[in-house]
Amino acid sequence: MPKVTINDFLKKKTEGQKITMLTAYDFPFAKIVDEAGVDAILVGDSVAMVVQGIENTLPVTMDEMIYHTRMVSRAAERAMVIGDMPFMSYQVSVEEAVRNAGRFIKEGGAQAIKIEGGSEVAEKVAAMVRSDIPVMAHIGLTPQSIHRMGGYKVQGRTEEAKRQLLEDARVLQEAGAFSIVLEAIPMDLAREITQTLTIPTIGIGAGPYCDGQVLVIHDLLGLFDRFVPKFVKRYANLKEQATDAIKKYIEEVKKGDFPDEEQSFK
Ligand code: KIV
Repeated sequence: MPKVTINDFLKKKTEGQKITMLTAYDFPFAKIVDEAGVDAILVGDSVAMVVQGIENTLPVTMDEMIYHTRMVSRAAERAMVIGDMPFMSYQVSVEEAVRNAGRFIKEGGAQAIKIEGGSEVAEKVAAMVRSDIPVMAHIGLTPQSIHRMGGYKVQGRTEEAKRQLLEDARVLQEAGAFSIVLEAIPMDLAREITQTLTIPTIGIGAGPYCDGQVLVIHDLLGLFDRFVPKFVKRYANLKEQATDAIKKYIEEVKKGDFPDEEQSFK
């Protein structure tokens, strides 16, 4: 089965077809997501919150990200796999940024990386692209900036912030990013950025006018309920279903109904 490539992303934008992206962090979920037909799987640093149980994304390490990316890459036959650069894996220097981005490709088996930040990361994006590493940018609410932003807040509300986000998007495209995530910004601003750029925009909390959408798989399936952002739509409630199944198992073991002859050897 041919893999989705960065050329397919651009073609979809040109042809007005929506791009679909979801996160996954391990083999079984990546297999489900890939077989269902998404275009790209993001091994997001959101793994820190929805899998590791940490309250923000900051502590997850490069080694942990590579570990999860490997599992996802083994499962993804069609979807492009994108590794998310964790906090402090790219901030210190261009050299360190390129080396860590390269690890996602070489050790993780990913086809691209994602990096948070605006114009300030453009030099790093350009250096990665020069090293043949496709880069997805990420602006708006960037969760690694939570302490500077003072929480998970909608970005781009003032005229100055809007102008800055439009400028960041242009600079990142110029630096060679093949696509850009827009997180938690007003939908009219997302539309303006989408119309201005030639590369596709992927929205999360950025309204319907982006070229594609991304969600965290645990949010979509109802597996994470510590908090549910406004932009999340739950398509299932797997936590409830899993709890019911486990309660039934406990009840049947206690009553002696499981295992019965069908699950036993003669
Ligand atoms: O880490 C992540 O899951 C992300 C998406 C929310 C875009 O960055």
